[in-house]
Amino acid sequence: MENKQLIAKALEAAQRAWAPYSGFRVGAAVLLEDGTVVCGNNQENRAYPLGSCAERVAVNFARATYPALKIEAIAIASPDSAVPVTPCGGCREVLLEAVRAQHNCDIRVVMADRTGELYREALATELLPFAFEFK
Ligand code: THU
Repeated sequence: MENKQLIAKALEAAQRAWAPYSGFRVGAAVLLEDGTVVCGNNQENRAYPLGSCAERVAVNFARATYPALKIEAIAIASPDSAVPVTPCGGCREVLLEAVRAQHNCDIRVVMADRTGELYREALATELLPFAFEFK
C-alpha cells in the first residue's frame, strides 16, 4: 500500500478521535505484513493523564488482534496540524517494543500534516536512539 493511501486512512480515523480537551485530533493507520490496515485515534479522558495517543491505540490493537503479523508501517496524521505529526517519546518506546517483538524488523513511520500531502518518513529505530533496553 502506498504511503498516501495509508495517510488517508489515518486522517479518516482522526475524524473519530475523542479529543474534547485538547481539540487536537490524531489518527494512526497500521499496515500489517498481509496488507491488513488497523486504525486508531487519540482517546482522551477528563482525568488527563489517562488519555491514549492514536499511535498506541492502533499499535496495541494491532498487536492484540493480529499478534502473528508483523507491522510494516504506521501513518500518523492530524486534521488539526499544519506540520507533520511526529510520535511522542512514549509512543516511540511502544513502536520500538513492536520492532523487537517482530525480530527487529523495522517499522516505517510516516508522519503527515492535515493535507496528507506533506509527509516525512523515518524508521522506528531511527526515532529513538539510546532507547531504554536491558538484558
Ligand atoms: N497525540 C497523539 O495522539 N499522538 C501524537 O503523536 C501526539 C499527541 C494526542 C495526545 C492528546 O490527546 C492530544 O494529541 C494533544 O496532545
